Amino acid sequence: MNKKIYNNELLKKGFLDYDIEPGIDPIAEIHRLKKEKNAVILAHYYQESKIQDVADIIGDSLYLSQQAAKTQAEIIVFCGVHFMAETAKILSPKKKVLLPDLKAGCSLADSCKASDFEKFLKKYPEHTVISYVNTTAEIKAMSDIICTSSNAVQIIESLPETEKVIFAPDKNLGNYIQSITGRKMVIWDGACHVHEAFSLERILELKKNNPEAKIIAHPECIKPVLIVADYVGSTSALLNFTKHDSANTYIVATESGILHQMKKANPFKNFIAAPPKDSSCGCSDCSYMKLNTIRKLYNCMKYEMPEVTIQENLRKKAESSIRRMLEISEKLGL
Ligand code: 13P
Ligand code: SF4
Repeated sequence: MNKKIYNNELLKKGFLDYDIEPGIDPIAEIHRLKKEKNAVILAHYYQESKIQDVADIIGDSLYLSQQAAKTQAEIIVFCGVHFMAETAKILSPKKKVLLPDLKAGCSLADSCKASDFEKFLKKYPEHTVISYVNTTAEIKAMSDIICTSSNAVQIIESLPETEKVIFAPDKNLGNYIQSITGRKMVIWDGACHVHEAFSLERILELKKNNPEAKIIAHPECIKPVLIVADYVGSTSALLNFTKHDSANTYIVATESGILHQMKKANPFKNFIAAPPKDSSCGCSDCSYMKLNTIRKLYNCMKYEMPEVTIQENLRKKAESSIRRMLEISEKLGL
């Protein structure tokens, strides 16, 4: 089959949809392909467990971008969502960056369209623009510094108190940072459909039935959930908290993929996924993150498609705001 046929299929579906050949163990084959092609698999904590287990590096969005910037591998296979793979490509333009499913997007990134953001920025001249990494390259190109949930507070605090700041696109994270730092910011009205969907009532019901449990939450959650949480932090901060804290049971208000690493790190502790408002399964999956599967990963490594590409002009413009984040984080030892 030639490249044109692959490309047509990719355009239609966003991934290569071939069955795994009979007799092939996809996990063993993925490991073999990694060596053969000098590829590294980076996986976000929200990926399905099997993908996390086959990855070379697992982490939150800050750690994965740091690793993408310094890897020696020729191919980066990014098991996460599009803005994460795009950030890797911006930082490592000479490398081939693959994403098992190109349609793995992000509702938060979608809530901030470049044309709307451009108009918004015009209303607030002389403001420093801090954008969350969950944005497209176009938004990053319009920003001064990028941040993630791991370093947002420190990045804001690294600026002089008098500096006027725009924070985009997550209003929950923005409000949370404002409450921690006491800085007034102009905040874009965006949100993540997974973190906004947690039900305070159902969380409190769980807490009533498990009074010894601690509630831990990602700062993208709505304020009422953050208020009842015993601890608020980025994905990796939540994971670290469970390793060092003395409680035995946790109600976890973030995407449920993180429970895999929490259980691995704490085999004798209990983890309960905080339930969303309207779901009978009680779990909170990011439908975008879960578009990546072992089969798509296998095909993507075999055919080296789909590839994440970016126009060089845009890449350069987006790079400086990400580099500023990495520099500040390095200085602060984050
Ligand atoms: P982290 O920055 O904690 O990895 O979160 C990324 C994300 O997509 C949250 O929904
Ligand atoms: Fe985006 Fe939310 Fe999914 Fe994170 S969990 S990738 S913010 S949609």
